[in-house]
Amino acid sequence: MNFEPIIHTVLALHILGLALIIGSFALQLRRKEGFELGTMLIGAITQLVTGLILVGLVQMNDEDVNNAKIAVKLIFAIVVLVAVMVARSRQAKALSAGTSEKKATLPFLHLAGMGALINVFVAVLWH
Ligand code: HEM
Repeated sequence: MNFEPIIHTVLALHILGLALIIGSFALQLRRKEGFELGTMLIGAITQLVTGLILVGLVQMNDEDVNNAKIAVKLIFAIVVLVAVMVARSRQAKALSAGTSEKKATLPFLHLAGMGALINVFVAVLWH
């Protein structure tokens, strides 16, 4: 069976997931309060799920998967997801304690955005 059309469809979802993370990151880089982290969380989960499905589909299509590249991408995708989760929990604590939302949230927003950016370059440059 030819899995190409399914691979391309999942790849499109994979690109949309990356747009959610990096778009949301870029929009909020200079924000001081009122961070919206739900979009990044959906993007981070989308990347993990669609990435793992892609690995399976590519193998089912009898193509080689670069295991080292996938391992690196997996690590950075987990860093992104954990950073967004930590940012959300620190944001909630800062809001209830009345302390700086920016200080609590922004470093982890940066970590998540940087992790996703690195993964874009790993995906495109490592062949
Ligand atoms: C923040 C996380 C991620 C970002 C930003 C990202 C980005 C990308 C991009 C831009 C492409 C297209 C590359 C091209 O067609 O030349 C791609 C393809 C792909 N990604 Fe990801 N990715 C992420 C996470 C993952 C994860 C966690 C996995 C698997 C565990 C994965 C597996 C794949 C596979 C199998 C492809 C298909 C082509 C290839 O082998 O490079 N990705 N990714």
